[in-house]
Amino acid sequence: MKKRDFLKTFGTAAIGAPFFSFDSNLNYNHLDYSERNNLSEKEFWKKIREDYTLKKDYINLENGYYCITPNPTLNNFISHVKKINIQGSYYMRHHRDKDNRRIETRLAKFLSCSPEELVVTRNTTESLDLIVGGFPWKKGDEAIYATQDYGAMQQMFKLVSKRYGVVNKIVSVPNHPKSDEEIVKLYEDQITSKTKLIMVCHMINITGHILPIRKICDMAHKYGVEVMVDGAHCVGHFKVNISELNCDYYGSSLHKWLSTPLGVGILYVSKNKISKINPLLASHVDEEDNILRLNHIGTHPVYTDLAIDNALDYQEMIGVDRKENRLRYIQRYWSDRLRKVKNIVINTPIEKHKSCGIANVGIKNMDPGKLAKVLLDKYQIFTVAINHENVVGCRISPNVYTNEQDLEHFISSIKELAT
Ligand SMILES: Cc1ncc(COP(=O)(O)O)c(C=O)c1O
Repeated sequence: MKKRDFLKTFGTAAIGAPFFSFDSNLNYNHLDYSERNNLSEKEFWKKIREDYTLKKDYINLENGYYCITPNPTLNNFISHVKKINIQGSYYMRHHRDKDNRRIETRLAKFLSCSPEELVVTRNTTESLDLIVGGFPWKKGDEAIYATQDYGAMQQMFKLVSKRYGVVNKIVSVPNHPKSDEEIVKLYEDQITSKTKLIMVCHMINITGHILPIRKICDMAHKYGVEVMVDGAHCVGHFKVNISELNCDYYGSSLHKWLSTPLGVGILYVSKNKISKINPLLASHVDEEDNILRLNHIGTHPVYTDLAIDNALDYQEMIGVDRKENRLRYIQRYWSDRLRKVKNIVINTPIEKHKSCGIANVGIKNMDPGKLAKVLLDKYQIFTVAINHENVVGCRISPNVYTNEQDLEHFISSIKELAT
């Protein structure tokens, strides 16, 4: 018997009156941030930094894996855990579905798409694997992606290649393309009559390079090819308007730049594509064009889903544009100063709109692993080494709490190492 049928049969009688007096109110603390409106820019970002508990023994310039949660969101999350632990299955049976849909509707508004096209998942990996794994592949179909794409996603294409005989075509994205058209052509040149799906990163994680998604989608659609966008690093990082991108599928992790606690992501599927994807896990939802048939994962830590509300509150307090500008300011603060220094290589495009908070820096003739190690051991700066194809350097991903003092220390450390 399904949980919902059980409720219909036994629900009101079995659960009955005593519970109605029970505190089932999971409304979280809507924090009042209004006193921040009058702060100067400098004071505002100082306050933001104070919202985080930061480790004192290193400067964290590795937020690309995931972004730690600011305390206002974290405290609300802990309170969700406690409240749900008191309510137990009462919460699951009475509130969970409604809360999920409310949060998904809020997220859909935030990302400018229809709530019927968006569901919460656990992360980008799950979102994109649901599409690649559930796509109706036939032997000989072709897919295109880039060698700079995330490893686990490439593995999924290799898996469907083995399983269904899909042919994968792999392009290599230059770090400094002359134009958007150069990128579009890279993918277009690989399209044949057998091409079914292109996977493309909205932001390449190892360089921070933002790709011209709308132009790639418009081009691909002319050939009847669908586009799945890996937006792992984009939601909460800069303004994402999914409808404007004109893509077919979009996945992102909210524990990255939206700074939710670990374990939540989103999957967008364009309404007319929902029915063609085979669910990987069976759901109770039978309507073929209902996106809820794609993300049934059973019982999971729902308090993390609830914290999306708090993360969105925090994001709105900062403001989407203000956050994007700040992250870009931070990246340009260090990369503009290092770009022309002898022996230093910046593996991220120079045009402002082609990157935001993340960039990649290398030192000629120095192995990135060694660079990352020296940065940590000698200068107490935590980064991650990348040595892949045309990307040889350390990925630098500061966050809204990073201040100019941290950046000055980073700049002088890199300069010292480059001489
Ligand atoms: C481009 C890209 N895609 C997908 C992922 C996977 O994200 P998650 O581990 O949150 O599923 C990452 C993680 O860093 C990434 O950088």
